[in-house]
Amino acid sequence: MRGKRVARRAKLWSGRLGAATSSAVEAFTASVDIDSRLYRHDIAGSIAHAKMLGRQGIITAREAQKIVRGLKAIEREIDSGRFQFFPADEDVHMNIERRLTEKIGAAGGKLHTARSRNDQVALDMRLYLRDELTAIMERLAALKREFARAAKRNLDVIMPGYTHLQPAQPVLFAHHWLAYWEMLGRDEERFAGCRERVNMLPLGSGALAGTTLPIDRACVARLLGFPRISQNSIDAVSDRDFILEFLSAAAILFVHLSRLAEELILWSSREFGFVELPDRYCTGSSMMPQKKNPDVLELIRGKTGRVFGHLHALLTIMKGLPLAYNRDLQEDKIPLFDTVDTVKSSLAMARDIVRGLKVNRGRMLGAAQDGFMNATDLADYLARRGLPFRSAHQVAGKIVRHCIDHGRRIEELPLSELKRFSARFEKDVYRYLSVDSMVQRRRSAGGTARANVQRRLKELGV
Ligand code: ARG
Repeated sequence: MRGKRVARRAKLWSGRLGAATSSAVEAFTASVDIDSRLYRHDIAGSIAHAKMLGRQGIITAREAQKIVRGLKAIEREIDSGRFQFFPADEDVHMNIERRLTEKIGAAGGKLHTARSRNDQVALDMRLYLRDELTAIMERLAALKREFARAAKRNLDVIMPGYTHLQPAQPVLFAHHWLAYWEMLGRDEERFAGCRERVNMLPLGSGALAGTTLPIDRACVARLLGFPRISQNSIDAVSDRDFILEFLSAAAILFVHLSRLAEELILWSSREFGFVELPDRYCTGSSMMPQKKNPDVLELIRGKTGRVFGHLHALLTIMKGLPLAYNRDLQEDKIPLFDTVDTVKSSLAMARDIVRGLKVNRGRMLGAAQDGFMNATDLADYLARRGLPFRSAHQVAGKIVRHCIDHGRRIEELPLSELKRFSARFEKDVYRYLSVDSMVQRRRSAGGTARANVQRRLKELGV
Protein backbone atom coordinates (compact mmCIF):
# COMPACT_ATOMS: atom_id res chain seq x y z
CA MET A 1 0.00 0.00 0.00
CA ARG A 2 2.76 2.39 1.03
CA GLY A 3 4.95 1.36 -1.90
CA LYS A 4 2.09 1.89 -4.32
CA ARG A 5 1.56 5.36 -3.02
CA VAL A 6 5.24 6.18 -3.26
CA ALA A 7 5.44 4.97 -6.83
CA ARG A 8 2.29 6.81 -7.81
CA ARG A 9 3.38 10.14 -6.42
CA ALA A 10 6.42 12.29 -6.95
CA LYS A 11 7.93 14.25 -4.06
CA LEU A 12 6.56 17.75 -3.62
CA TRP A 13 10.08 19.04 -4.18
CA SER A 14 11.12 16.57 -6.92
CA GLY A 15 11.31 19.08 -9.80
CA ARG A 16 15.05 19.70 -9.55
CA LEU A 17 16.24 16.13 -9.01
CA GLY A 18 17.01 13.65 -11.76
CA ALA A 19 16.55 10.45 -9.79
CA ALA A 20 14.07 9.27 -7.19
CA THR A 21 15.28 9.15 -3.60
CA SER A 22 16.39 5.70 -2.57
CA SER A 23 14.16 4.08 0.00
CA ALA A 24 17.04 3.88 2.47
CA VAL A 25 17.55 7.63 2.18
CA GLU A 26 13.85 8.16 2.50
CA ALA A 27 13.81 6.21 5.74
CA PHE A 28 16.92 8.00 6.98
CA THR A 29 15.61 11.49 6.36
CA ALA A 30 11.96 11.03 7.27
CA SER A 31 10.87 12.52 10.57
CA VAL A 32 7.11 12.07 10.40
CA ASP A 33 6.99 9.28 12.94
CA ILE A 34 8.38 11.79 15.42
CA ASP A 35 7.10 15.19 14.30
CA SER A 36 3.52 14.09 13.60
CA ARG A 37 2.83 15.19 17.15
CA LEU A 38 3.09 18.76 15.85
CA TYR A 39 0.04 18.38 13.62
CA ARG A 40 -2.34 20.61 15.58
CA HIS A 41 0.17 23.42 15.72
CA ASP A 42 1.15 22.92 12.10
CA ILE A 43 -2.48 23.23 11.07
CA ALA A 44 -3.11 26.26 13.29
CA GLY A 45 -0.08 27.98 11.73
CA SER A 46 -1.20 27.10 8.21
CA ILE A 47 -4.72 28.37 8.83
CA ALA A 48 -3.41 31.73 10.02
CA HIS A 49 -1.03 31.89 7.05
CA ALA A 50 -3.80 31.07 4.56
CA LYS A 51 -6.13 33.67 6.04
CA MET A 52 -3.42 36.30 5.75
CA LEU A 53 -2.68 35.30 2.14
CA GLY A 54 -6.39 35.72 1.39
CA ARG A 55 -6.65 39.10 3.11
CA GLN A 56 -3.59 40.38 1.26
CA GLY A 57 -5.02 39.24 -2.07
CA ILE A 58 -2.04 36.93 -2.64
CA ILE A 59 -4.58 34.15 -3.08
CA THR A 60 -8.31 34.66 -3.53
CA ALA A 61 -10.67 34.74 -0.57
CA ARG A 62 -12.34 31.62 -1.96
CA GLU A 63 -9.07 29.76 -2.14
CA ALA A 64 -8.22 30.81 1.40
CA GLN A 65 -11.58 29.58 2.56
CA LYS A 66 -11.14 26.23 0.83
CA ILE A 67 -7.71 25.82 2.38
CA VAL A 68 -8.95 26.62 5.87
CA ARG A 69 -11.85 24.21 5.56
CA GLY A 70 -9.61 21.51 4.14
CA LEU A 71 -7.10 21.92 6.97
CA LYS A 72 -9.83 21.69 9.59
CA ALA A 73 -11.10 18.50 7.99
CA ILE A 74 -7.58 17.08 8.02
CA GLU A 75 -7.24 17.93 11.70
CA ARG A 76 -10.39 15.92 12.39
CA GLU A 77 -9.03 13.03 10.34
CA ILE A 78 -5.83 13.00 12.38
CA ASP A 79 -7.68 13.45 15.70
CA SER A 80 -9.82 10.41 14.97
CA GLY A 81 -6.94 8.28 13.73
CA ARG A 82 -8.25 8.06 10.18
CA PHE A 83 -5.31 9.93 8.69
CA GLN A 84 -2.45 7.94 7.29
CA PHE A 85 1.01 9.46 7.56
CA PHE A 86 3.48 8.41 4.86
CA PRO A 87 7.22 8.43 5.58
CA ALA A 88 7.69 9.01 1.85
CA ASP A 89 6.25 12.46 2.49
CA GLU A 90 9.08 13.10 4.95
CA ASP A 91 7.56 15.15 7.69
CA VAL A 92 4.31 16.32 9.21
CA HIS A 93 4.28 19.49 7.11
CA MET A 94 4.39 17.71 3.77
CA ASN A 95 2.01 14.96 4.81
CA ILE A 96 -0.61 17.54 5.64
CA GLU A 97 0.03 19.62 2.55
CA ARG A 98 -0.15 16.56 0.33
CA ARG A 99 -3.47 15.53 1.83
CA LEU A 100 -4.79 19.06 1.47
CA THR A 101 -4.20 19.02 -2.27
CA GLU A 102 -5.75 15.58 -2.45
CA LYS A 103 -8.84 16.95 -0.77
CA ILE A 104 -9.29 20.40 -2.31
CA GLY A 105 -7.32 20.22 -5.54
CA ALA A 106 -5.12 22.96 -7.00
CA ALA A 107 -5.90 25.53 -4.27
CA GLY A 108 -4.03 23.26 -1.87
CA GLY A 109 -0.84 23.96 -3.77
CA LYS A 110 -1.19 27.64 -2.92
CA LEU A 111 -0.92 27.22 0.85
CA HIS A 112 2.86 27.18 0.73
CA THR A 113 3.03 30.55 -1.09
CA ALA A 114 5.47 32.91 0.66
CA ARG A 115 6.46 30.21 3.09
CA SER A 116 9.26 27.69 3.52
CA ARG A 117 9.38 24.64 5.73
CA ASN A 118 12.24 26.42 7.46
CA ASP A 119 10.07 29.16 8.91
CA GLN A 120 7.12 26.75 9.16
CA VAL A 121 8.93 24.29 11.41
CA ALA A 122 10.32 27.12 13.56
CA LEU A 123 6.74 28.32 13.99
CA ASP A 124 5.39 24.86 14.83
CA MET A 125 8.04 24.30 17.47
CA ARG A 126 7.27 27.63 19.10
CA LEU A 127 3.52 27.05 19.08
CA TYR A 128 3.98 23.57 20.48
CA LEU A 129 6.40 24.60 23.21
CA ARG A 130 4.26 27.59 24.18
CA ASP A 131 1.35 25.24 24.92
CA GLU A 132 3.49 22.69 26.69
CA LEU A 133 5.11 25.37 28.84
CA THR A 134 1.68 26.42 30.02
CA ALA A 135 0.86 22.82 30.93
CA ILE A 136 4.23 22.32 32.63
CA MET A 137 3.89 25.49 34.66
CA GLU A 138 0.49 24.36 35.90
CA ARG A 139 1.98 21.08 37.08
CA LEU A 140 4.87 22.87 38.69
CA ALA A 141 2.48 25.15 40.57
CA ALA A 142 0.48 22.11 41.69
CA LEU A 143 3.61 20.45 43.06
CA LYS A 144 4.62 23.63 44.88
CA ARG A 145 1.19 23.78 46.48
CA GLU A 146 1.59 20.24 47.82
CA PHE A 147 4.86 21.18 49.50
CA ALA A 148 3.25 24.18 51.15
CA ARG A 149 0.23 22.17 52.28
CA ALA A 150 2.37 19.43 53.77
CA ALA A 151 4.48 22.10 55.48
CA LYS A 152 1.37 23.58 57.03
CA ARG A 153 -0.04 20.22 58.12
CA ASN A 154 3.22 19.37 59.87
CA LEU A 155 4.13 22.75 61.23
CA ASP A 156 5.25 21.47 64.63
CA VAL A 157 7.35 18.55 63.38
CA ILE A 158 11.04 18.88 64.19
CA MET A 159 13.70 16.93 62.34
CA PRO A 160 17.47 16.89 62.14
CA GLY A 161 18.88 19.32 59.59
CA TYR A 162 21.95 17.95 57.84
CA THR A 163 25.21 19.13 56.42
CA HIS A 164 27.49 16.51 54.85
CA LEU A 165 24.51 14.21 55.54
CA GLN A 166 25.58 14.35 59.20
CA PRO A 167 23.08 15.64 61.77
CA ALA A 168 23.82 19.37 62.11
CA GLN A 169 21.04 21.37 63.78
CA PRO A 170 17.37 20.67 64.39
CA VAL A 171 14.98 22.35 61.97
CA LEU A 172 11.28 22.36 61.32
CA PHE A 173 10.28 19.76 58.78
CA ALA A 174 8.12 22.53 57.30
CA HIS A 175 11.20 24.68 56.82
CA HIS A 176 12.96 21.85 55.00
CA TRP A 177 9.91 21.31 52.81
CA LEU A 178 9.62 24.98 51.96
CA ALA A 179 13.18 24.85 50.64
CA TYR A 180 11.64 22.91 47.75
CA TRP A 181 9.07 25.65 47.30
CA GLU A 182 11.94 28.09 46.73
CA MET A 183 13.75 25.79 44.28
CA LEU A 184 10.60 25.11 42.29
CA GLY A 185 9.78 28.83 42.38
CA ARG A 186 13.04 29.53 40.57
CA ASP A 187 12.19 26.80 38.08
CA GLU A 188 8.87 28.52 37.49
CA GLU A 189 10.63 31.81 36.81
CA ARG A 190 12.97 30.14 34.37
CA PHE A 191 10.11 28.50 32.46
CA ALA A 192 8.19 31.79 32.43
CA GLY A 193 11.22 33.63 31.03
CA CYS A 194 11.65 30.92 28.42
CA ARG A 195 7.99 31.22 27.47
CA GLU A 196 8.42 34.94 26.84
CA ARG A 197 11.19 34.28 24.35
CA VAL A 198 9.30 31.37 22.76
CA ASN A 199 6.39 33.72 22.21
CA MET A 200 7.56 35.34 18.97
CA LEU A 201 6.44 34.75 15.39
CA PRO A 202 9.18 33.47 13.04
CA LEU A 203 6.83 32.83 10.09
CA GLY A 204 7.36 35.18 7.17
CA SER A 205 11.10 34.63 7.16
CA GLY A 206 10.84 32.31 4.16
CA ALA A 207 13.75 29.96 3.63
CA LEU A 208 16.14 32.52 5.13
CA ALA A 209 15.86 35.89 3.40
CA GLY A 210 12.20 36.89 3.60
CA THR A 211 9.81 36.93 0.64
CA THR A 212 9.05 39.11 -2.34
CA LEU A 213 5.30 38.77 -1.78
CA PRO A 214 3.32 41.42 0.13
CA ILE A 215 2.67 39.40 3.29
CA ASP A 216 1.41 40.88 6.56
CA ARG A 217 3.34 39.30 9.40
CA ALA A 218 1.64 41.37 12.08
CA CYS A 219 -1.68 39.90 10.98
CA VAL A 220 -0.39 36.33 11.35
CA ALA A 221 1.08 37.22 14.74
CA ARG A 222 -2.29 38.55 15.88
CA LEU A 223 -4.13 35.47 14.65
CA LEU A 224 -1.73 33.18 16.52
CA GLY A 225 -1.50 35.31 19.65
CA PHE A 226 2.16 36.29 19.32
CA PRO A 227 3.00 39.66 20.89
CA ARG A 228 6.15 40.02 18.74
CA ILE A 229 7.53 39.09 15.35
CA SER A 230 11.13 38.13 14.66
CA GLN A 231 13.30 40.95 13.29
CA ASN A 232 15.88 38.99 11.33
CA SER A 233 14.86 36.27 8.89
CA ILE A 234 18.24 34.51 9.05
CA ASP A 235 18.16 34.29 12.82
CA ALA A 236 14.49 33.30 12.86
CA VAL A 237 15.03 30.12 10.84
CA SER A 238 18.30 29.08 12.43
CA ASP A 239 17.57 29.90 16.06
CA ARG A 240 16.82 27.13 18.54
CA ASP A 241 17.86 29.06 21.64
CA PHE A 242 14.32 28.82 22.91
CA ILE A 243 14.59 25.02 22.95
CA LEU A 244 18.03 25.11 24.54
CA GLU A 245 16.62 27.39 27.20
CA PHE A 246 13.74 25.06 27.84
CA LEU A 247 16.06 22.06 28.07
CA SER A 248 18.34 23.96 30.46
CA ALA A 249 15.44 24.94 32.68
CA ALA A 250 14.24 21.33 32.59
CA ALA A 251 17.71 20.08 33.50
CA ILE A 252 17.81 22.36 36.54
CA LEU A 253 14.29 21.29 37.49
CA PHE A 254 15.54 17.71 37.41
CA VAL A 255 18.45 18.61 39.64
CA HIS A 256 15.76 19.55 42.14
CA LEU A 257 13.48 16.60 41.50
CA SER A 258 16.36 14.16 41.80
CA ARG A 259 17.40 15.68 45.12
CA LEU A 260 13.84 15.33 46.34
CA ALA A 261 13.72 11.75 45.11
CA GLU A 262 16.99 10.95 46.81
CA GLU A 263 15.90 12.45 50.12
CA LEU A 264 12.60 10.60 50.09
CA ILE A 265 14.27 7.32 49.20
CA LEU A 266 16.65 7.83 52.10
CA TRP A 267 13.99 9.01 54.53
CA SER A 268 11.68 6.13 53.71
CA SER A 269 14.42 3.57 54.32
CA ARG A 270 14.12 1.40 57.38
CA GLU A 271 17.23 3.03 58.82
CA PHE A 272 15.76 6.55 58.69
CA GLY A 273 12.05 5.80 58.89
CA PHE A 274 11.18 9.51 58.69
CA VAL A 275 8.39 9.10 56.15
CA GLU A 276 6.18 6.46 54.68
CA LEU A 277 5.58 6.54 50.95
CA PRO A 278 2.06 6.01 49.66
CA ASP A 279 1.67 2.31 48.78
CA ARG A 280 0.25 3.09 45.37
CA TYR A 281 3.53 4.68 44.39
CA CYS A 282 5.70 1.79 45.43
CA THR A 283 6.29 -1.68 44.08
CA GLY A 284 6.99 -5.03 45.63
CA SER A 285 9.71 -7.50 44.86
CA SER A 286 9.06 -10.67 42.88
CA MET A 287 11.34 -12.56 45.26
CA MET A 288 11.39 -10.84 48.63
CA PRO A 289 7.92 -10.62 50.17
CA GLN A 290 8.85 -7.95 52.72
CA LYS A 291 9.88 -5.36 50.14
CA LYS A 292 8.28 -2.03 49.45
CA ASN A 293 10.41 -0.32 46.88
CA PRO A 294 10.43 3.38 45.99
CA ASP A 295 10.64 2.71 42.24
CA VAL A 296 8.77 5.83 41.19
CA LEU A 297 11.25 8.02 43.01
CA GLU A 298 14.16 6.01 41.68
CA LEU A 299 12.83 6.54 38.17
CA ILE A 300 12.50 10.27 38.69
CA ARG A 301 16.10 10.26 39.88
CA GLY A 302 17.09 8.04 36.94
CA LYS A 303 15.25 10.02 34.30
CA THR A 304 17.39 12.98 35.27
CA GLY A 305 20.06 11.31 33.15
CA ARG A 306 18.07 11.48 29.97
CA VAL A 307 16.97 15.07 30.58
CA PHE A 308 20.60 16.15 31.03
CA GLY A 309 21.47 14.09 27.95
CA HIS A 310 18.88 15.85 25.80
CA LEU A 311 20.32 19.23 26.75
CA HIS A 312 23.78 18.00 25.87
CA ALA A 313 22.50 16.58 22.58
CA LEU A 314 21.00 19.85 21.39
CA LEU A 315 23.95 21.92 22.53
CA THR A 316 26.10 19.63 20.43
CA ILE A 317 23.77 19.85 17.44
CA MET A 318 23.81 23.65 17.55
CA LYS A 319 27.49 24.13 18.17
CA GLY A 320 29.37 25.39 15.12
CA LEU A 321 26.30 25.17 12.87
CA PRO A 322 26.58 27.71 10.05
CA LEU A 323 23.66 30.08 9.51
CA ALA A 324 20.89 29.70 8.53
CA TYR A 325 18.77 26.52 8.37
CA ASN A 326 20.54 23.15 8.23
CA ARG A 327 18.87 19.78 8.28
CA ASP A 328 20.73 19.02 11.51
CA LEU A 329 18.01 21.06 13.16
CA GLN A 330 15.50 18.29 12.53
CA GLU A 331 17.30 16.44 15.34
CA ASP A 332 15.89 18.92 17.86
CA LYS A 333 12.62 16.98 18.00
CA ILE A 334 13.45 13.95 20.13
CA PRO A 335 15.29 15.96 22.80
CA LEU A 336 12.43 18.41 23.05
CA PHE A 337 9.53 15.97 22.91
CA ASP A 338 11.05 13.46 25.28
CA THR A 339 11.98 16.18 27.75
CA VAL A 340 8.44 17.57 27.67
CA ASP A 341 7.01 14.11 28.33
CA THR A 342 9.50 13.35 31.08
CA VAL A 343 8.98 16.68 32.83
CA LYS A 344 5.19 16.37 32.76
CA SER A 345 5.00 12.80 34.00
CA SER A 346 7.65 13.29 36.68
CA LEU A 347 5.98 16.44 38.01
CA ALA A 348 2.67 14.61 38.27
CA MET A 349 4.29 11.68 40.09
CA ALA A 350 6.20 13.95 42.46
CA ARG A 351 3.00 15.84 43.30
CA ASP A 352 1.11 12.66 44.16
CA ILE A 353 3.93 11.34 46.29
CA VAL A 354 4.34 14.58 48.23
CA ARG A 355 0.59 14.65 48.74
CA GLY A 356 0.39 11.05 49.95
CA LEU A 357 3.48 11.11 52.16
CA LYS A 358 3.08 10.12 55.81
CA VAL A 359 5.42 11.96 58.12
CA ASN A 360 6.67 9.97 61.09
CA ARG A 361 7.03 12.80 63.58
CA GLY A 362 8.22 10.54 66.40
CA ARG A 363 11.13 9.21 64.39
CA MET A 364 12.07 12.68 63.19
CA LEU A 365 11.98 14.13 66.68
CA GLY A 366 13.93 11.19 68.10
CA ALA A 367 16.63 11.71 65.50
CA ALA A 368 16.63 15.44 66.17
CA GLN A 369 17.39 14.77 69.84
CA ASP A 370 20.20 12.44 68.92
CA GLY A 371 23.66 13.26 67.60
CA PHE A 372 24.59 16.14 69.92
CA MET A 373 22.99 18.72 67.71
CA ASN A 374 22.67 21.00 70.71
CA ALA A 375 26.44 21.31 71.08
CA THR A 376 26.51 24.64 69.20
CA ASP A 377 23.78 25.98 71.42
CA LEU A 378 25.66 24.77 74.46
CA ALA A 379 28.65 26.85 73.38
CA ASP A 380 26.33 29.80 72.62
CA TYR A 381 24.90 29.47 76.13
CA LEU A 382 28.35 29.86 77.68
CA ALA A 383 29.31 32.67 75.31
CA ARG A 384 26.16 34.55 76.33
CA ARG A 385 27.35 34.22 79.89
CA GLY A 386 30.64 35.91 79.12
CA LEU A 387 32.93 33.06 78.12
CA PRO A 388 34.86 33.87 74.91
CA PHE A 389 33.32 31.76 72.12
CA ARG A 390 36.56 29.91 71.38
CA SER A 391 36.75 28.71 74.97
CA ALA A 392 33.03 27.95 74.98
CA HIS A 393 33.54 25.82 71.88
CA GLN A 394 36.34 23.94 73.70
CA VAL A 395 34.17 23.30 76.75
CA ALA A 396 31.24 22.12 74.64
CA GLY A 397 33.56 19.81 72.70
CA LYS A 398 34.85 18.28 75.93
CA ILE A 399 31.31 17.72 77.16
CA VAL A 400 30.39 15.97 73.91
CA ARG A 401 33.46 13.76 74.26
CA HIS A 402 32.49 12.96 77.84
CA CYS A 403 28.94 12.10 76.75
CA ILE A 404 30.15 9.82 73.97
CA ASP A 405 32.42 8.00 76.42
CA HIS A 406 29.54 7.50 78.85
CA GLY A 407 26.73 6.91 76.39
CA ARG A 408 24.70 9.95 77.52
CA ARG A 409 23.07 12.97 76.00
CA ILE A 410 24.20 16.44 77.09
CA GLU A 411 20.84 17.28 78.60
CA GLU A 412 20.96 14.07 80.67
CA LEU A 413 24.00 15.25 82.66
CA PRO A 414 23.06 16.64 86.07
CA LEU A 415 23.93 20.27 86.73
CA SER A 416 26.71 19.30 89.15
CA GLU A 417 28.39 17.32 86.40
CA LEU A 418 28.03 20.16 83.91
CA LYS A 419 29.49 22.58 86.41
CA ARG A 420 32.67 20.53 86.50
CA PHE A 421 33.22 21.76 82.91
CA SER A 422 32.19 25.36 83.58
CA ALA A 423 30.89 27.20 86.60
CA ARG A 424 28.70 29.30 84.32
CA PHE A 425 26.09 26.56 83.85
CA GLU A 426 22.77 27.17 85.62
CA LYS A 427 19.43 25.33 85.72
CA ASP A 428 18.08 27.21 82.70
CA VAL A 429 20.57 25.34 80.50
CA TYR A 430 18.16 22.39 80.16
CA ARG A 431 15.41 24.48 78.70
CA TYR A 432 17.99 26.20 76.51
CA LEU A 433 19.14 22.87 75.07
CA SER A 434 15.73 21.43 74.21
CA VAL A 435 15.22 20.92 70.46
CA ASP A 436 12.13 23.04 70.55
CA SER A 437 13.84 26.08 71.99
CA MET A 438 16.80 25.55 69.67
CA VAL A 439 14.48 25.78 66.68
CA GLN A 440 12.47 28.69 68.03
CA ARG A 441 15.59 30.75 68.75
CA ARG A 442 16.58 30.79 65.08
CA ARG A 443 14.52 33.81 64.25
CA SER A 444 16.89 35.56 61.86
CA ALA A 445 15.16 36.29 58.54
CA GLY A 446 14.89 33.06 56.58
CA GLY A 447 15.76 30.94 59.65
CA THR A 448 13.83 27.92 60.85
CA ALA A 449 11.90 29.45 63.80
CA ARG A 450 8.20 28.58 63.69
CA ALA A 451 7.22 32.27 63.58
CA ASN A 452 9.27 32.68 60.39
CA VAL A 453 7.87 29.59 58.74
CA GLN A 454 4.34 30.58 59.63
CA ARG A 455 4.89 34.05 58.17
CA ARG A 456 6.29 32.52 55.00
CA LEU A 457 3.32 30.18 54.63
CA LYS A 458 1.01 33.18 54.96
CA GLU A 459 2.96 35.05 52.29
CA LEU A 460 2.55 32.03 50.05
CA GLY A 461 -1.18 32.11 50.66
CA VAL A 462 -1.37 28.71 52.32
N1 ARG B 1 11.46 18.25 8.93
C1 ARG B 1 12.26 19.41 8.83
C2 ARG B 1 12.77 19.80 10.24
O1 ARG B 1 12.21 19.37 11.18
C3 ARG B 1 11.48 20.56 8.28
C4 ARG B 1 12.29 21.57 7.56
C5 ARG B 1 12.90 20.99 6.35
N2 ARG B 1 13.51 21.99 5.53
C6 ARG B 1 14.32 21.67 4.53
N3 ARG B 1 14.80 22.63 3.86
N4 ARG B 1 14.60 20.43 4.24
O2 ARG B 1 13.73 20.54 10.39
